[in-house]
Amino acid sequence: MKTVSRNWVASVQVALSLLGLPYSAGTSGICRKNAINSTPSLCSSTSVYMSTVAHIKARCPVYPGSDTSRFPVPDDKVDWKTDWPQYYPVNYTAPTVLKKPVWADPEIGEFPPQFNSLDGSVDRRSHDGLYLILNGKPLNPHGRTGLEGRGLLGRWGPNHAADPIVTRWKRDSEGQRVHHTTSQLPMLQFVSIKRLDCGEWAIPGGMVDPGERISQTLQREFSEEAMNSLQASASVTENIQKRITKLFSSEGLQVYKGYVDDPRNTDNAWMETVAVNFHDESGNSVSEFPLQAGDDAGQVSWIDVDSSLDLYANHLHFLETVAKERNTHW
Ligand SMILES: *[C@@H]1O[C@H](CO)[C@@H](O)[C@H](O)[C@H]1NC(C)=O
Repeated sequence: MKTVSRNWVASVQVALSLLGLPYSAGTSGICRKNAINSTPSLCSSTSVYMSTVAHIKARCPVYPGSDTSRFPVPDDKVDWKTDWPQYYPVNYTAPTVLKKPVWADPEIGEFPPQFNSLDGSVDRRSHDGLYLILNGKPLNPHGRTGLEGRGLLGRWGPNHAADPIVTRWKRDSEGQRVHHTTSQLPMLQFVSIKRLDCGEWAIPGGMVDPGERISQTLQREFSEEAMNSLQASASVTENIQKRITKLFSSEGLQVYKGYVDDPRNTDNAWMETVAVNFHDESGNSVSEFPLQAGDDAGQVSWIDVDSSLDLYANHLHFLETVAKERNTHW
């Protein structure tokens, strides 16, 4: 039925040979590690994504926003290459997605998706290379999740997001850069938003709209959050918008690009993101935004970049990369 056939390995090999590609396990796993630890540019090479990195959140027992329990997937069965005839993932797509809002695809069979390519205005390419299609459905490049369908995600295959990391130097009341007492390194602050759903601090990112370039998404998401927080008059808003546009047109530092281990992921739909750091070096751009410090959900704030931060999901890794690349306190 709906499960992956026991001829999985053979299917993969056939699929890859049809594409004229070698079967290379683990290449991108190394690439991901590099994306976190050192050179992000190593991630740009196109390779078939067969990672050995086992996703964790994508196997959370109860699917978010539902009472649906995933079929339990032990570590040694995550990889699609591991034959597992007893695998019966639960089929779940959230009612909100089945209602066909503009941001969601129809069900498979109701439309002709062009996977692994730019499909009209919807980018169905993965940042991590080609993904496989089985019975018309894309397969999660990081392996089994215990749930098929799309869950809360709108797109079959990759669901693209972008995370803008906007930083400034931490300064004292005299405007001097603050160095950390222990590490002696200068300290950064970044724009953070308190999430409404879980109350955790996070980078103010969001989904890439159809036809939108990632650079546009980065700026749009940041602008929306900053504007909401600042609640400025029309003339001030224009000034703020100019500063944001200038900062985002400077060359950002890409700190991550690829798969996200997200609790919403399924066997057929998953999150991917591009995280880019825009740094206000001189301090006369967005650094001057008086973002409010506070505890209310939805609050936007300048927060010190520090390894002890209790931050949403992999956002901590993104910040660590920023701090290491810029040789600042972590
Ligand atoms: C999974 O559920 C969807 C509706 O949520 C349905 O359209 C689809 O046919 C189901 N797929 C399988 C393989 O049962």
